[in-house]
Amino acid sequence: MHAATPSAIDRRRLRDVFGTYITGVAVITTLDAEGRPCGVTANSFSSVSLDPPLVLWSQALNARSFPAFSRHERFVVNVLAKHQRELSQRFATPGADKFAGVECRPGIGGLPMLADCCAHFECRKVTTWPGGDHAVFLGLIERFERSAAEGLAFGGGRYLVTRAHAEAAGAPG
Ligand SMILES: Cc1cc2nc3c(=O)[nH]c(=O)nc-3n(C[C@H](O)[C@H](O)[C@H](O)COP(=O)(O)O)c2cc1C
Repeated sequence: MHAATPSAIDRRRLRDVFGTYITGVAVITTLDAEGRPCGVTANSFSSVSLDPPLVLWSQALNARSFPAFSRHERFVVNVLAKHQRELSQRFATPGADKFAGVECRPGIGGLPMLADCCAHFECRKVTTWPGGDHAVFLGLIERFERSAAEGLAFGGGRYLVTRAHAEAAGAPG
């Protein structure tokens, strides 16, 4: 148990404990003011609403691509498949020429859609909320698709692959 006033919270430890929540991994893409592709690895993606269809993700304010995501009215969530760990690392590395040699096709508005992903959600940004050292982007899904590929997972600071729980007969609902 770790109890503390907010100001006394150990950031390193908090990050580790956040990591107990296992997530998928996505690369979120958009275009900058000059129309160049931008992309970042993000595990803050979450589904929000079915009607209307909404998703969110959050981005660090100090990310190089933050001005592009903040300015552009659209983003694409490229949900990574389990064979795309290297792509995740590439888009998590600031300054790298992230799109060099990466197979992409244009989505709505010409935004980059990465090949071989599990799923794509093409979104129009409807709201941006302040969230401390991050901004939270809420997007309305305008188009989505999925493939048969299995997703890449992330937890405890490591990439993971998933398998069904031994006791799982199906999901509720
Ligand atoms: C698995 C994983 C998940 C990440 N999730 C996020 C996230 O949700 N939001 C964020 O701002 N950065 C996240 N990052 C870090 C960014 O991908 C990284 O800082 C990236 O280099 C930012 O790119 P830029 O500075 O070129 O914009 C994540 C990194 C990894 C490896």
